[in-house]
Amino acid sequence: MSIRIVTICGSVRPGNYTAMALELAIDELRKTPGVEVIPIRLETLDLPLPGLAPKNAAALEQFQQTVASATGVLLASPEYHGGISSPMKLAIDNLGFPSVLGDKPVAILGVAAGVIGAIKSTEQLRAICAHVGAMPLPLAVSIARIQQQFDTEGNCLDAATEKYIRRSASNLIDYINHAVCPKISLEAILREMEEG
Ligand SMILES: Cc1cc2nc3c(=O)[nH]c(=O)nc-3n(C[C@H](O)[C@H](O)[C@H](O)COP(=O)(O)O)c2cc1C
Repeated sequence: MSIRIVTICGSVRPGNYTAMALELAIDELRKTPGVEVIPIRLETLDLPLPGLAPKNAAALEQFQQTVASATGVLLASPEYHGGISSPMKLAIDNLGFPSVLGDKPVAILGVAAGVIGAIKSTEQLRAICAHVGAMPLPLAVSIARIQQQFDTEGNCLDAATEKYIRRSASNLIDYINHAVCPKISLEAILREMEEG
């Protein structure tokens, strides 16, 4: 079975650090056999504010279908004013009510300029994911002082930080392999038995 992971970058700032950190997690996913990665960049979607008609309905539908088709999701958000970024919240608000994130395992990666890291935003993101029925994994990855961890070209300057970021991806795959895949194969066997 192929595992499909959708990643969403919660910063749309040109040269943003969230995308640099997320790129390491995406690389880790791409290195894993049997894993397909679909990165979503919100600046390309022009998502509507909740309740307003979309300017690009096809892009919105495609966004929802892509997330709906995922085995798991990796959400990466910067910490803005003690919470998740407004683009990340807008993305989640555009995933339907009920949300297509429902039942999905979700790995959370947060980056922040400050020394305490993305503690508030990762906790907030976990609460929102749980609220919409998703399964946020324990141990969100929070990176503090992000400007000291990467150079402006996006190279990670600290091996331990890189390893930690990559774990946000491998933890998600481990969870899917141990908790989701056995359930799916068991269901397939049961279906085959029912069909005779
Ligand atoms: C509107 C705004 C609010 C921010 N608030 C915080 C904050 O509360 N705590 C913090 O550590 N960094 C804060 N930052 C700095 C970001 O964490 C920093 O820009 C970091 O690089 C991650 O954002 P980026 O992915 O857009 O680069 C803020 C940045 C912006 C643009």
